[in-house]
Amino acid sequence: MDDHSLGDGAPGFRARAGWTREQAARIERTDETVGPIVYPPESDQIPHLHIWDTWFLRNRDGTLAEVDGYRVCFSLTAPSDLLPGKRHDVASVRCFYSADGRNWHDGGPVFEDALGQRQWAGSALYDDGSVYLFYTAAGEEGAEDLTYSQRIVGAGGGTVDTSEGFALRGPWTHHELLRPDGDRYEREDQSRAMIYTFRDPWFFEDPQTGETWLLFEANSPVPEGSDVCDGDAAQQGYNGSVGIARSPTGDPLSWELEDPLLDAVGVNQELERPHIVYKDDLYYLFVSSHLHTFAPGLEGYDALYGFVAEELRGDYVPLNESGLVVTNPENAPFQSYSWMAFPHDDEVLVQSFFNYFDFAGETLDEIAHLPESEQMRRFGGTLGPTLRLDVQGTETRIIGKLGHWHVPMAGEELPPTERELIRRARTDEDGRGGYVSED
Ligand code: FRU
Repeated sequence: MDDHSLGDGAPGFRARAGWTREQAARIERTDETVGPIVYPPESDQIPHLHIWDTWFLRNRDGTLAEVDGYRVCFSLTAPSDLLPGKRHDVASVRCFYSADGRNWHDGGPVFEDALGQRQWAGSALYDDGSVYLFYTAAGEEGAEDLTYSQRIVGAGGGTVDTSEGFALRGPWTHHELLRPDGDRYEREDQSRAMIYTFRDPWFFEDPQTGETWLLFEANSPVPEGSDVCDGDAAQQGYNGSVGIARSPTGDPLSWELEDPLLDAVGVNQELERPHIVYKDDLYYLFVSSHLHTFAPGLEGYDALYGFVAEELRGDYVPLNESGLVVTNPENAPFQSYSWMAFPHDDEVLVQSFFNYFDFAGETLDEIAHLPESEQMRRFGGTLGPTLRLDVQGTETRIIGKLGHWHVPMAGEELPPTERELIRRARTDEDGRGGYVSED
């Protein structure tokens, strides 16, 4: 693998690798990283819900599960008559299923008795016929006011019953798995930042070692008076990290915290929904982040960012030199968010949700100043088109898209990309047959 780390390469704050300011300063939109404009789907498959962060039921080896012919996914949801900006306060996890990877059906709320005041993002494992759900318990159940504490929870006991159509059943048992230790991972009371994070658990079995891991979004505690970021307290407040815990026995409900995989101290406050795609013997680590969570002096976008390493815990370098992998067009900067990459044949596919469209404001905050009817009209609240990525070493490029909600079934052949069609057309014109280079 070429080493394109370029920046000063300094290890992050207690993490094995850091996303440096030099690297992040290179973020800019390119043909390879900007997705196409997203238009509202002709018909909303699930009109009664706002749907945002979404994850698939996956096997231990990271492939998407197909249970008796069904693809299964889980999403954060809220009723679609709610003002979209309020959805995080009432989020609950629902299950969706599809027999063709295109048409999805609402399988209903997953839990009756989940921990937390509401549930935020997670991941799902299909292991030996059992379903495990990892999620974030946001707020303390029973508290009167809305609180922002976050704990990582695992629920076991799920099964899929396809005897009469599709049903996901409990009874579930909920286990608090991880809380921040205040040392590797910041607790809420230590936080000096605008947004605090300890959330978004994501299960990963390392194909090279067979070890079992849980990744999550966190913040690195930077002690007051620390000299990181030249002692600049404002920059130190931007302290996002990708946390990791190990299950010594492989038990999905028993974890021990380890040092973070990557931090972004002085660069970015939120490295959301971290996840890994293992491809060509390399570990591709992806996170979503926002324009408004970059530290002062840096300009980024709402985007999918990525890093690659030869070992799970070792030295990640940003993809495409800056980390930028997929972003929205300049005239629709908030149209998609919460990207999740997954492998399909030789490609990496990326799903995300359709966020605010027909809106080119400077920041997402401006949405709240629009009349409520406009906030409702401009919110997608459904899955967007699936993007196709070519990923080679430290470089990626968007090579096409599939429809809204299209999650190909195992072995499904994808249509030829535009590039491929051009290549074929050229071949026909030339009458030469065979492969024609685009150069
Ligand atoms: C990303 C995110 C997640 C969180 C969820 C809450 O879209 O911020 O990190 O779990 O939204 O709704």
